Amino acid sequence: MKQINLITKITVYSYEECTEIEKKLIDAAKQATFNAYAPYSKFHVGAALQLENGKIITGNNQENAAYPSGLCAERTAVFYANAQYPDQKIKAIAVAAYYNGDFTNDLVSPCGSCRQVLLEVESRYNSPVKILMYNKNNEVYVAESMSSLMPLSFDKKALD
Ligand code: THU
Repeated sequence: MKQINLITKITVYSYEECTEIEKKLIDAAKQATFNAYAPYSKFHVGAALQLENGKIITGNNQENAAYPSGLCAERTAVFYANAQYPDQKIKAIAVAAYYNGDFTNDLVSPCGSCRQVLLEVESRYNSPVKILMYNKNNEVYVAESMSSLMPLSFDKKALD
């Protein structure tokens, strides 16, 4: 028998400690929550991507009466960015959620399907995507890459 311990490094910054571009991304993710379409869960999620050319792309969750047909904020943003700017690396993503009249106390962390999509982005552009997860205590949890949040993940190397 052998045991493998996998370590995930998360750094917690206050909003004020973030760089200017990180602050812009967080602000954009927070703002994007207000355009979410979430009549069923009432959980409004916003995501903001930083492209290599400096452009910020936002997305939000888009729900549907047929629940599984809806889409998370992160994938809405990533698919839009990849559709419009296929040559632009995605450098970072910020995520925030608004629920019950305020931003959430707990950070909002990408779901498994969004993690898988962000992992594909890292392999597609051969470049890490920094993940910034905001909570209303003005804390920002930062993971340096999606692969660091998804050890033993399945990616296209398995298909080579
Ligand atoms: N949701 C996101 O948009 N992103 C996440 O990271 C977590 C969950 C959405 C999906 C659904 O519309 C609502 O939040 C409640 O799960």
